Amino acid sequence: MDVTVRPAAPIRGRVRVPGDKSISHRAAIIGALASGVTRVRGFLRADDCRRTLDCLRVLGVRIEDVGAEIVIHGTAGSLSPPPSILFAGNSGTTMRLLSGVLAGQPFTAEIDGDQSLRRRPMDRVAEPLRQMGAGVAARDGRYPPLRISGGTLHGIRYELPVASAQVKSAVLLAGLFASGETEVVELVPTRDHTERMLSGFGVPIRREVHRVTLSPAVPRGGPVDVPGDISSAAFLLAAAAASEHSELTVEDVGLNPTRTGVLDVLRTMGASVTTEAVREGPGEPMGTVSVRGGRLRGTTVAGTLIPRVIDELPVLCVLAAVAEGRTVIRDAAELRVKESDRIGVLARGLQALGVAVEERPDGMEITGGRLREGIVEAEGDHRIAMAFAVAGLLADGPVTVRGAESVLISFPGFFETLRAVRES
Ligand code: S3P
Repeated sequence: MDVTVRPAAPIRGRVRVPGDKSISHRAAIIGALASGVTRVRGFLRADDCRRTLDCLRVLGVRIEDVGAEIVIHGTAGSLSPPPSILFAGNSGTTMRLLSGVLAGQPFTAEIDGDQSLRRRPMDRVAEPLRQMGAGVAARDGRYPPLRISGGTLHGIRYELPVASAQVKSAVLLAGLFASGETEVVELVPTRDHTERMLSGFGVPIRREVHRVTLSPAVPRGGPVDVPGDISSAAFLLAAAAASEHSELTVEDVGLNPTRTGVLDVLRTMGASVTTEAVREGPGEPMGTVSVRGGRLRGTTVAGTLIPRVIDELPVLCVLAAVAEGRTVIRDAAELRVKESDRIGVLARGLQALGVAVEERPDGMEITGGRLREGIVEAEGDHRIAMAFAVAGLLADGPVTVRGAESVLISFPGFFETLRAVRES
């Protein structure tokens, strides 16, 4: 599907966004492993999280969608051997987190994905799960499909070679079934939704700087209230940040500090960003974010900030294209193994819109100025499609996004929300 987005300014309004994708996946998976019933409000009803629900159903979990809530009947850690291959679709989180779970089950299961997921590295989860005692076979030693023979696991100490919350979570979920403690060391902090939810579900988990230690346990199910996804809100906030006289508020959005790097970057670029907490931790913090737009300046995004903005880098690169001066993105080689090679796809798309971009192995340099009209390819990547739709709002003329249907992966209703904030 092609969608053409025309320039619009200012962006105004008060909106909500669909539920957080990372937290929704975890609520489904941890709820399935828990004792008792887990009722999830605000669950993200989008393709990626539906894949997780479908896989869990194939593994014998009873899940009901009763409108306001998803109701998960916990299995107390005992899933059933799947009668067919599990299909994770486009969802890396589904495949990597479920790999950790399957490692602890006394049967063999196979999990596969779509063309995009089949190109993404899975050795990063296979390696620690093998160390814990599971059998994991991958295509060419690295790629989906994965064949996982769950076994008798023992806890390990694992230092993450890449900053990845999915890998950390896979190891921690396997640790629920292991003998002894499982420890994950991360030199660069990544999103901590798994730790927060397991702890909220009564699992003994100790959190220190750079280290999480978990003891095996059956989580206790309970209610989960999923906040709006700040990664989805980021597209709207970014659009507002870059246009004068814009004023946008997003309500009930997640404000977990491991995810709010985008707000820091918007501030550094010159936007006025305020937050108001409505709910604080130790669960998931939630609140309201407001942005007032203006002239932006280029910035550098690098180092420990990268995992806190990893999913927001596509839209930040679009902002860089209209900011004053240069923007440098560094230490972000992980972008190359997301739903697409985001460095390559962004560089090509921005160049098609007349922007000076120099691609680097771990990022890019963008010289700000203006975005021209043009046609860009989303290349099947939801966040690229939404980032280029924002480019359309900020460009001199219309931008056509090819493959725009991919927004359904994480943000159903994206184009309707965009229409609402440009017309209010
Ligand atoms: C996610 C972790 C990140 C992120 C992805 C969701 C998660 O991936 O990019 O969209 O829910 O744990 P990595 O673990 O590969 O960094």
